[in-house]
Amino acid sequence: MEVIEQVGTIRQTVQALRCSGKTIGFVPTMGALHEGHLQLLRASAQENDITICSIFVNPTQFNNPDDYKLYPRTMEEDIALLKTVGCNYLFAPNAGEVYREQTLLQFSFGVLETVMEGEHRPGHFNGVATIVGKLFNLVQPHKAYFGQKDLQQVAIVRQLVNGLSFNLELVCYPTVRETDGLAMSSRNKRLNEEQRQIATHLYKALQQAKAELKQKPVASIKQSIAEYLQSINQVALEYFEIADPDTLQPVEDVSKYKQVALCIAAFVGEVRLIDNIIVNLNEV
Ligand code: PAF
Repeated sequence: MEVIEQVGTIRQTVQALRCSGKTIGFVPTMGALHEGHLQLLRASAQENDITICSIFVNPTQFNNPDDYKLYPRTMEEDIALLKTVGCNYLFAPNAGEVYREQTLLQFSFGVLETVMEGEHRPGHFNGVATIVGKLFNLVQPHKAYFGQKDLQQVAIVRQLVNGLSFNLELVCYPTVRETDGLAMSSRNKRLNEEQRQIATHLYKALQQAKAELKQKPVASIKQSIAEYLQSINQVALEYFEIADPDTLQPVEDVSKYKQVALCIAAFVGEVRLIDNIIVNLNEV
């Protein structure tokens, strides 16, 4: 696996690969790789001639400076893992290389960014769209792989791809979970042992909400999830939402839907975690 740090080098490499007719699969990440990332990388290695991973902790998508500073950075372990999953190139630029001048770009994703992550992390999706757009231009992938854990990010990136006519296929893979249900996330590395156990309550809350979907109105489900998480030490719920899985707009009457997305964001100690499940209503 070749590690590339310069924008000029990734451009030349991609151009040569494309000229020789190779298909490129791309997995953009911020590092601290876990099984969720590895699943995307394995899929890319299977479906494309060449797999490129990027590791870049993107400063413009962090609305909280401490979250940026404390985001886990584990480059050596990441490189070792990438070598086990058939990754051909790692693009790992520094911030100055990617943002040669301050970016003033402003995206608007309409109602998609007025809810959940968009509402609670102002500017976050503008930063995501900026970096993902840059990376797509640099890497020019045929396929780009994202995880369902960041459900709203996938919807934003889909709008970016359609809106700017990126010539690529977006592939979304289901969330990978630990055996106790905790969604894999780079931020889990910041949890201490006790918090790691406590964090499983997010998934338990989603399961509880799923069980209540046909028994209670939406407002009562929200109330019972809030009460459940309030009873857990070190957990502070930011939002729990029942949303349309495509538009991510809040659902008021689940009987009108075939599927809904149950989405949650909560702090466990200082660490902010998100999770979601998509529920088929004919299966509950
Ligand atoms: O999901 C992530 O890790 C990041 O938001 C992404 C897509 C790599 C952009 O920085």
